[in-house]
Amino acid sequence: MSKTMDNQLQQEVDKRRTFAIISHPDAGKTTLTEKLLLFGGAIREAGTVKARKASKHATSDWMEIEKQRGISVTSSVMQFDYKGHRINILDTPGHQDFSEDTYRTLTAADSAVMLIDVAKGVEAQTIKLFQVCAKRGIPIFTFINKLDREGRSPFDLMEELEQVLGIRSVPMNWPIGTGRDLCGVYDRTLNQVELFQGDDHSTIQVQKVEDYNDPVIREMAGEFLHDQLCQDLELLDVAGDPFDMEKVQRGELTPVFFGSAINNFGVQTFLENFLKLAPKPEPRKSTAGLIEPTDEKFSGYIFKIQANMNPAHRDRIAFLRIVSGKFQRGMSVKHVRAGKEIKLSQPQQFLAQDRDIVQEAFPGDIIGLFDPGIFRIGDSLSQASEIVFDELPTFSPEIFAKVTVKNALKHKQYQKGIDQLTEEGTIQVFNTVSFDDTLLGVVGQLQFEVFEYRMKGEYGVDVQLQRMPYQFARWIIDDNIDPSKFRINSTLVKDKKGNYVVLFENEYAMRTAMEKNPTAKFLETAP
Ligand code: G4P
Repeated sequence: MSKTMDNQLQQEVDKRRTFAIISHPDAGKTTLTEKLLLFGGAIREAGTVKARKASKHATSDWMEIEKQRGISVTSSVMQFDYKGHRINILDTPGHQDFSEDTYRTLTAADSAVMLIDVAKGVEAQTIKLFQVCAKRGIPIFTFINKLDREGRSPFDLMEELEQVLGIRSVPMNWPIGTGRDLCGVYDRTLNQVELFQGDDHSTIQVQKVEDYNDPVIREMAGEFLHDQLCQDLELLDVAGDPFDMEKVQRGELTPVFFGSAINNFGVQTFLENFLKLAPKPEPRKSTAGLIEPTDEKFSGYIFKIQANMNPAHRDRIAFLRIVSGKFQRGMSVKHVRAGKEIKLSQPQQFLAQDRDIVQEAFPGDIIGLFDPGIFRIGDSLSQASEIVFDELPTFSPEIFAKVTVKNALKHKQYQKGIDQLTEEGTIQVFNTVSFDDTLLGVVGQLQFEVFEYRMKGEYGVDVQLQRMPYQFARWIIDDNIDPSKFRINSTLVKDKKGNYVVLFENEYAMRTAMEKNPTAKFLETAP
């Protein structure tokens, strides 16, 4: 490869930031995303993303469920430019009902922004998503939102981050007053205050100061709020964690930003700081060792497959995260698992609103490939020889249902549907050892609805789902499995590959089984 080509690749890699926003529903993810897209000029008016969230836009109305429930079932990708950076935001569904897709999407991100409601603190879904990010050790940035409302004290929230998530935090800015009294934030790195002005908190005045003791702040915010600010920041200076880039990079320390997405307050400074601190596309582990983004040979892996985005064509889209090299439309690559050369001729890029045909793309970018049924989650595509990227994690199902087909004559289509949807990663399938009943396992209730809908829509099969009381699945490794030992509040099943799995109704049943079978190993996911 020529030197100029090398340089171009290096430059493209350096300017990219690919991240996911993780949060509990209602924390303000849609609002924040929209503000970021506005800064980047990817959308022109506020309300565009909101409208999409309300599922009025054609891009996301590929599935009736979305329309009915006004949610985005599957995660998508948004790309925009800001001050010389190219930013890819991976959208994870903000709804309670999320799925394995949500988790897997996080594997395509190089960092995460954790959005927290100042009044609610760390909530259930944030915890789950955080844990997936923490397992990968990616940097996590925290944005504490809705500062214009009465909320919890910043110290209290920092304590909660540590207690509940086990992560230390370092505030990058600090609120001056809160709720109705909020008048701005003090930026600890730039030594400046950003002030709200006017009743609607719309105008922002930025003022450089000496440090937080600067009398200018006193004039602006009043004696009371300034005293409070000085007290808080002195305490932070003495007892708080210092900023440590290496700890941030390892995901051990989270930089915290306070702001209000809806008032566009603190959002731009957050974005600018984030772009400075967040990692560019990282190398990925593979069978051929670490693959560097600047490796001239193109490679990537599929982390998600989405069916029927366009009901008229019944196409599937495979989402590919580029790991190395330059992607060019029409290029030939090796589909490693299938052992075949394929041509990537109709790739798509996911912008704020429309799907465009991509001509070229670089590491960190996500492209959508039309999938005539040849891809599986975790597949590697590569220009070099046989690169296989580290397997994508699977997740322990937490909700279970027994599935039966209403019309026995449809059994063949039913089996085909089950096989295909399992392969896509929509559901996990188990068969009970005692009666050979078929059980489905998922991480989010919505996956059942998607399953039912697609079995009918794509395979013409009506299924009946009966919820089962199990909450935990454990893959059992033992030389002598005795089914009689797994009867009370649990059941023994086999997964698709014939591995033994026990489903438990509660934690007590699981603990008892572990005590009674001291030689067995209980794994959360398939070995
Ligand atoms: P989500 O995607 O995380 O589910 O949250 P979304 O952005 O939809 O925000 C949830 C609600 O919180 C919305 O109100 C939104 O306007 C509000 N919100 C977002 N950021 C802020 C903020 O900084 N301050 C305050 N006070 N509110 C904020 P809603 O009433 O549910 O919707 P809408 O009627 O405003 O559209």
